[in-house]
Amino acid sequence: MSVNLARLNIPSTLVIGGGASRQVGSEARRLRLQRPLVVTDPFLQKSGLAQRVLDDLAAEGVHGELFADVQPDPTLANVHTGLDRLRQAGCDGVIAIGGGSSIDCAKAVAVMSRNTGSIGDYMGYHKVPQPGLPLIAIPTTSGTGSEVTKVTVITDAERQVKMMLLDAHLLPTAALVDYELTLTMPAGLTAAVGVDSLTHALEAYVSKKANPVTDLVALEAGRLIAGNLRAAFQEPGNRPAREAMMRGATLAGIAFSNASVALVHGMSRPIGAYFHVPHGLSNAMLLPAVTAFSVDAAPERYAHFARHVGCSAAADDATACRELVAELEKLNRDLRVPSPREYGIARERFDEAMAQMAQDALASGSPGFNPRVPTAEEIVTLYRQCYG
Ligand SMILES: NC(=O)c1ccc[n+]([C@@H]2O[C@H](COP(=O)([O-])OP(=O)(O)OC[C@H]3O[C@@H](n4cnc5c(N)ncnc54)[C@H](O)[C@@H]3O)[C@@H](O)[C@H]2O)c1
Ligand SMILES: [Fe+2]
Repeated sequence: MSVNLARLNIPSTLVIGGGASRQVGSEARRLRLQRPLVVTDPFLQKSGLAQRVLDDLAAEGVHGELFADVQPDPTLANVHTGLDRLRQAGCDGVIAIGGGSSIDCAKAVAVMSRNTGSIGDYMGYHKVPQPGLPLIAIPTTSGTGSEVTKVTVITDAERQVKMMLLDAHLLPTAALVDYELTLTMPAGLTAAVGVDSLTHALEAYVSKKANPVTDLVALEAGRLIAGNLRAAFQEPGNRPAREAMMRGATLAGIAFSNASVALVHGMSRPIGAYFHVPHGLSNAMLLPAVTAFSVDAAPERYAHFARHVGCSAAADDATACRELVAELEKLNRDLRVPSPREYGIARERFDEAMAQMAQDALASGSPGFNPRVPTAEEIVTLYRQCYG
């Protein structure tokens, strides 16, 4: 008997559109939350958004407990502090406001409130034993798609490892996807998170785990992102571009969460862990070279993606693949993405770390879903090529 099943996990409620975040009070009530922990970062506390959410909750008779200490690339310590706060306050749910960092930390806190040990015990695929408390995710960057993914990334600062966990128990219960929250993103952040979501769409489409549903979602995500990223970068207040980017990022999250990411993400996490490069930037640094390395293993997939998202009109696959790589290089130039060298990483430190970074990349499992699966030596060669 042939087994060819496609599994899709998505949050049970998605509210998408301008103003969606104002539904937080009614959504919390619908989930019967009385005292959720509101997880965010210091910037979003200062901006007043966290207070607005607390007020919207209060208007529905829900008391939110604020935890605003999440740092970019959240650490084990962030998760432990959040968990202590949740237990002290007797919270019955979690609400995340922010980029991937706040949402990932909130996912870890929600899940660890119902499991023993440390979040690090559950690194890898499908290892979380018990579901966590209900979680409402409100993204403020159009990037990671974490609001719809069954993934969390937590940094073990001591071991310098970005731990990736994938499990359906990490899915938010509800996501309120409100592009108006992204209008304040500065150009640099827009570029980094935008290339992250473009990478999600492309890697999901070429992944060995892609299925017919993730294909549809990945292609539409790629079209929206490739068609609107430059406009969002150049004009932060361009509402149609922001709206398209937000929808694209969320769709790209649905695609990669169910089809996996691949070699770019596998190689990107170690750069983040060793050199503290923001996630989207480290992806962008790698995307053109890793795509050039991979295209020959699935030329028809890369070519179809290139044509669908508007990077190429060539009928011939090899030309479309070349044009895709050229467009990714041009996009990096237009978005002023630095190479690792331009970012300020010393060559000796980068060279020294490459062998271990290649091992960490392979250990994450993501490179195994790439159309061309590299050896550790090939990964080192790619790192060297990208250094700049
Ligand atoms: N769980 C997943 O599926 C998944 C997928 C990809 C990446 N990630 C992880 O997500 C993290 C990165 O998340 P991110 O790129 O969204 O950034 P982030 O959450 O780290 O935020 C970066 C900075 O932008 C600020 N910011 C957030 N929203 C803003 C807004 N609207 N206006 C102005 N500033 C704003 C934040 O305060 C912070 O200082 C990484 O740790 C990465 O590994 C997770
Ligand atoms: Fe990503």
